[in-house]
Amino acid sequence: MPHPLLDLLPSGATADDDGTLRFAGCRVDDLAREFDTPAIIVDEAALRARAAEYRTALTSQRPNARVVFASKAFPATAVQRVMVEEGIGLDVAGGGEILSALRAGVDPALLVLHGNAKTTEELGIAVDAGVGLVVVDNADDVDRLEHLVPEGRMQDVLVRVIPEVESSTHPHVQTGQVGSKFGLTAPAAARLIDRIQQSPKLRMRGVHAHVGSQIMDPAELAAAVAPLAALGTFDVYDLGGGLGARYTYDEHPASVDAYVEALLAAADEHLPAEAEIIIEPGRSMVNGAAMTLYTVTTVKRDARTFVAVDGGMGDNLEVALFQQRYEAGLVARLNDEDSEDVVVVGRHCESGDVLVDPLRLPAPRVGDLLAVAATGAYTHTMGNNYNGYRRPPVVFVRDGSARAVIRRETWDDLFARDV
Ligand SMILES: Cc1ncc(COP(=O)(O)O)c(C=O)c1O
Repeated sequence: MPHPLLDLLPSGATADDDGTLRFAGCRVDDLAREFDTPAIIVDEAALRARAAEYRTALTSQRPNARVVFASKAFPATAVQRVMVEEGIGLDVAGGGEILSALRAGVDPALLVLHGNAKTTEELGIAVDAGVGLVVVDNADDVDRLEHLVPEGRMQDVLVRVIPEVESSTHPHVQTGQVGSKFGLTAPAAARLIDRIQQSPKLRMRGVHAHVGSQIMDPAELAAAVAPLAALGTFDVYDLGGGLGARYTYDEHPASVDAYVEALLAAADEHLPAEAEIIIEPGRSMVNGAAMTLYTVTTVKRDARTFVAVDGGMGDNLEVALFQQRYEAGLVARLNDEDSEDVVVVGRHCESGDVLVDPLRLPAPRVGDLLAVAATGAYTHTMGNNYNGYRRPPVVFVRDGSARAVIRRETWDDLFARDV
């Protein structure tokens, strides 16, 4: 029977006869020798295929709808460039994401800028770059934009609305409920919309909502459409992101087609037929295309079997932030029989620095390579230098050849900002 981990990896992943994982045509033990560990390994073809799947699913149903990738899910210039090449726009949150999107070659008109606390500097970068849509979160955004937009120009904006949808995802990634720090409740949004409609510098294009992240049931995402429609008739309705990604053997999130169908059914019911619909997938766009490769540094058989690896919460904060469950396997021993219950832990000085708990592995040994599947989303994003950790490289693999698109940090990088 093939190892179950293969089911969570991109479709090009296979096991060689000797039980070694092959990913996008490369043996993973070879990748470890070439790039060392830890490393975030991305199947470039899978990334492209997912972007194309989203674009086709949406635009085949509604030609004037568009997909923008939520860059925050994997804010690497190379990933943004793939999205640009696949014909989709970019959602950016903050000055750095705007600048990397421009480096990636995006048409600035296809950028959508978010943020609940945009600074004057960041809004200035956006206005200067010609960002297509600025999503206004609060009245201070409007004050700043009116000050920054040059005479004779108009900046297109959306207003972020709290749709009052409580989704069933983890509370730390819910954003659509009353009390959220993101956006405005309907009465406050209506007042700000009135103000923007009088503005000499801002053009009121539409409204936006984002219910939350890792949401398995598309009905919870589609529930934001009616509250947006209730605010009036606009050119643009941006329905946010949020579709769940598959991390574990037991999870089966809705397909892109089912998600798009649910959103468009709600749009058909509530929104003007000619309105432009935008969606902003992040997690579900990138998660499945990547895995993280580690080396086992120690195996401690005590109260439990602790399998400690050379990374952890320095390259993956999802477990600590909202107890995300992952699956993993030993890269060169996929044919070996699982024989031991273990907990995979990281190298950082926190008891919460856990990667997979529990997990069954075939008697793990020091030096074994461990692959954690489905790590494309929000891992590189939140990488950090805790305990002097050097953030890992991002490696793109395609048709049997591999290249680093982000190199590993060096020891010198750790001191580059010392004054
Ligand atoms: C405004 C906005 N759009 C889109 C996304 C992407 O969400 P997801 O990665 O869950 O698809 C986020 C995520 O936080 C967001 O804040």
